[in-house]
Amino acid sequence: MAKDVIVTGVEQFFGDDEIIVSKTDLKGRITYCNDVFLRIAGYTEKECLGEPHNIIRHPDMPRCVFDLLWGHIQDRREIFAYVVNRCKNGDHYWVLAHVTPSVDNNGDVVGYHSNRRVPDRNILEGVVAPLYADLVAEERRHANRKDGLHSSREMVAGILQERGVPYDEFIAGL
Ligand SMILES: Cc1cc2nc3c(=O)[nH]c(=O)nc-3n(C[C@H](O)[C@H](O)[C@H](O)COP(=O)(O)O)c2cc1C
Repeated sequence: MAKDVIVTGVEQFFGDDEIIVSKTDLKGRITYCNDVFLRIAGYTEKECLGEPHNIIRHPDMPRCVFDLLWGHIQDRREIFAYVVNRCKNGDHYWVLAHVTPSVDNNGDVVGYHSNRRVPDRNILEGVVAPLYADLVAEERRHANRKDGLHSSREMVAGILQERGVPYDEFIAGL
């Protein structure tokens, strides 16, 4: 994703009864997206298929959340994560994503699948958005990406240690 990506600050919403779905290959390239995905992100299917999933990455997303996401799914584990995504026109939308590995008949992981629902507004505004703002600020304090990620991971580890729960329980308990 380009560094000078445009954001408008305008939030977009989808319905409580809707699910935003996408699937990827093992490298995170989009292999499927549903109509809700295309409608809210403002892309055509042609523009998405085969593209890396970071085409909808929003600069306000902490790197360490994607690090957790990939760590889980590459370990064949599911993950729930709050994510703010960027629409093609620079608007944004918040989701609670449930990302899972897809396994074939031989038990091999052949790709990944994400189902996203409308997140709870109180959790978003009370906990997640302020936490992500702190994590992003920490990541940006470092000139080097790797150092930034290391530092925000430590922040997350500190929060989880303080609460005495792993990430999954922390998210489920919000
Ligand atoms: C199934 C699946 C769904 C994903 N969904 C999103 C998403 O909705 N938004 C997003 O920014 N990244 C999503 N990602 C993560 C991206 O692959 C990528 O790690 C992230 O955008 C960070 O990109 P960057 O490394 O270029 O910063 C998803 C990955 C997978 C495997």
